[in-house]
Amino acid sequence: MIISENTQSILNSLDSSIVMVGPNSEISYLNNAAEQLFSGSHTQLLGSKIETVLPANSPILLLIKKVQNTTSAVSDYGITLDTPRILKQIVNIQISPFIEDPNHVILNIFTRSIADKIDKQLIHRNAARSITAIASTLGHEIKNPLSGIKGAAQLLGTCIRDENRELTQLICDESDRICSLIDRMEIFSDKRPVKREPVNAHKVLERVRLIAENGVAKKIKFIEQYDPSLPFINGDHDQLIQIFLNLIKNAAESINHDHGEIILRTAYQHGVKFALPGDKSQFLLPLVISIQDNGVGVPRNLNELIFDAFVTSKSNGTGLGLALVAKLIDDHGGALEFDSEPGRTIFKVLLPMHKKEIDDEVY
Ligand SMILES: Nc1ncnc2c1ncn2[C@@H]1O[C@H](COP(=O)(O)OP(=O)(O)OP(=O)(O)O)[C@@H](O)[C@H]1O
Ligand SMILES: [Mg+2]
Repeated sequence: MIISENTQSILNSLDSSIVMVGPNSEISYLNNAAEQLFSGSHTQLLGSKIETVLPANSPILLLIKKVQNTTSAVSDYGITLDTPRILKQIVNIQISPFIEDPNHVILNIFTRSIADKIDKQLIHRNAARSITAIASTLGHEIKNPLSGIKGAAQLLGTCIRDENRELTQLICDESDRICSLIDRMEIFSDKRPVKREPVNAHKVLERVRLIAENGVAKKIKFIEQYDPSLPFINGDHDQLIQIFLNLIKNAAESINHDHGEIILRTAYQHGVKFALPGDKSQFLLPLVISIQDNGVGVPRNLNELIFDAFVTSKSNGTGLGLALVAKLIDDHGGALEFDSEPGRTIFKVLLPMHKKEIDDEVY
């Protein structure tokens, strides 16, 4: 199979594994991700029978036959691959006939972690949108009547007996508390475009670390694993501080033992692109900033919900921290994903780099 160099480099940039299988079930092409999945090089695998790299009796073999016979595409989800060559993986797969030669079929294999990541990234985008709508309504519908209630309670306070004044004071204090909660939410209805400037991620992390060490993360050890040549972020300095402060605060609050550790990590990933369904444009999100903690982990029952507003497992939490993080990252055109188990939770933020550096970069 002759594939032009350009097409090869496109296929090699994909996270999913692409394999082409010929009429005698021989592998006639595979991209880099497929080489990694099957733990073998191009030269070893080209020409081998697909049966020899997949588990015996794998449903994928039947699906390949089906596509060869019917020439229509099929998909299947949650297939387990476990062979000496392939470390145990759960994958989703799409098999399509090759239009130019229907005897050949193309396998597009997504490992579940990629599929899960995309699901999670979409969850945080949806959460950010729903909170934006709620926030703009609440601002109007609650704050106005609330100031009326508070005013009435203050008036009442001037003409009642001293022992009852405590109650009118309670109404005033609680009204103030609701108002400040709504003020926190109003930031969600801020639709101004993000101020774009070149921002040094390490300076942002330094600042956030300093604030945290003097507040929420007093007894926690910070470990920095920085890529010193990291390009600048294209973003808003103050909002980036808010994003990482919330993530570090959550990391610190999840640690309930004396050996608390938070790892701040930055890395540059080539070719990380992210596109939204229905949106043709692709964002280049090569800057990866992760916050890892050794705390209790995200409660399992909250896994799908943590980016929603008011979802909290803390007695004094508002559940607005991650909803705000999701909104700000969404405004930056970035992406957010997390992976959590007890003792190891990582929140990974993917961000665009500043335009000047994109122009300087040779792709
Ligand atoms: N690093 C983490 N480790 C474990 N659980 C986490 C972590 N980050 C978030 N969570 C879970 O996600 C929930 C939602 O987090 P979020 O920041 O939105 O709200 P909160 O921290 O509970 O309240 P607030 O941020 O308003 O103080 C938390 O209550 C917690 O259960
Ligand atoms: Mg929080």
